[in-house]
Amino acid sequence: MPDRPLSILFVSSEVYPFAKTGGLADVSHALPMALRELGHDVRVMLPKYGNVSERRNRIHEINRLKEVPIAVGDTVEPATIKSSSMQNPRTKVQAYVTTNFTYFDSKKGLYADPVTGEPYNNDERFIFFDRSVVTTCLLLGWFPDIIHCNAWQTGLIGAYIRTMHAKEFARTRLVFTIHNAADQGIFPASSLEKTGLPKEVYPRLTHAKQLNFTKAGMEFADAITTVSPTYAKEITRDKIASGGTPALFRGYQIEGILNGIDTYYWNPKTDPLIEHRYDAESWKDGKALNKKALRDRMKLPHEEKVPVLATIARLGEAKGIPLLIEILPELLRESVQIVVLGEGDPSLATTLQKLAAKHPKKLAVFMGFDDELAHLIEAGADMYLMPSLFEPCGLNQMYSMVYGTVPIVRATGGLIDTVTEFDPDARKGTGFVFRDYTADDFLAAIKRALALYKKPTYWATLVQNCMSQDFSWSKSARRYEEIYRDILARR
Ligand code: GLC
Repeated sequence: MPDRPLSILFVSSEVYPFAKTGGLADVSHALPMALRELGHDVRVMLPKYGNVSERRNRIHEINRLKEVPIAVGDTVEPATIKSSSMQNPRTKVQAYVTTNFTYFDSKKGLYADPVTGEPYNNDERFIFFDRSVVTTCLLLGWFPDIIHCNAWQTGLIGAYIRTMHAKEFARTRLVFTIHNAADQGIFPASSLEKTGLPKEVYPRLTHAKQLNFTKAGMEFADAITTVSPTYAKEITRDKIASGGTPALFRGYQIEGILNGIDTYYWNPKTDPLIEHRYDAESWKDGKALNKKALRDRMKLPHEEKVPVLATIARLGEAKGIPLLIEILPELLRESVQIVVLGEGDPSLATTLQKLAAKHPKKLAVFMGFDDELAHLIEAGADMYLMPSLFEPCGLNQMYSMVYGTVPIVRATGGLIDTVTEFDPDARKGTGFVFRDYTADDFLAAIKRALALYKKPTYWATLVQNCMSQDFSWSKSARRYEEIYRDILARR
């Protein structure tokens, strides 16, 4: 008998194109779409933040799910669940969005005030959201085979299901995926009461005497995954990768499954957001045209032989932005142009802007999030800088490779699993890799890349190697499917 299709609710605090601060949103779009293509009934659920337009995203009301009261501590707030969908020419997935004025609509940022950087009351916001997910299933009478929870913001769903609604969800299995172990959702123990969960389970929600959403997510999951094989090892050993708590993760079995990329949006041949499309055969002309467009957009002068180096990142320590700033004075002495797109830490942003003002012909920075520019950067740049302090998976190095943009990465997490140092003799490899988080190592890797760039035949081989990589979701989506079936078969 052929395997029956599964019903899957995929929950995430950010889903492209509705809301995005980073790779989590891309994965929360692409993996559900890939699972849908495998024939499953997949639906996604996320909160609707203040900056998400209902009109542009075609979000509309559902009759049964209006003004549903949800308790957070002593207060009760109404949740109205609305419906939308996400689609590409191949497939379509239904989306549920939780709307509420106090927690989401009145806030412009996803997790923090965009101006001050001050985090919102995220314990209450995601207690509310997690309860809204459970309530939606109850009101719809839809008890999916699988609830796939992503990142700490969804960490309490399992606890609600297994304690307060154990009967209804008896056949539902839970997967919890860690997208960044350094961001665990930690709040004071006093927040425990706001969850409304029975006191007996407090120990399972608590780590080091604090409410820890990630610990809760792992405790109640039937399977735990993270986003690359190397990162799965690192979080049980490495202080930085694990957010200081490798011992917490040693208590669980965690499988690393490499993220894929969306091969419709992130493909230079079909990319709807770039003007000059290209493939492995036409990359030279395609890149030249896109590079021209990129330089125009960033107001950089056209200098034919000068390579463009780029990075797109949340400005913070994790992505290695301080290291990039450290090497910039020396790097700017080379024959290079550098493009930075990002938002985050205001002091790092100011430093970058000051440097750009000093070197207007060589360094251009764009502060903010701009999807179209991100695609143009991948298409127009020659090299991509990713000096991450740690990296659970990383998607930009994969986007870069398929666009023929050579990645220069630090050997950490998912970067180890996706990029290998180019060996000119064997003509193998896809980029440049450095080990230590130091200015010297990073600069040396960039200089290796700049030297090779001057040898067009070698460079062309390297670009071809990059562009022939298969980073599609097909393999990893199948692995998730296997895990779903395994835990469903378990009693
Ligand atoms: C987080 C991680 C990043 C990963 C993404 C998607 O943003 O920092 O490395 O690629 O999640 O899983």
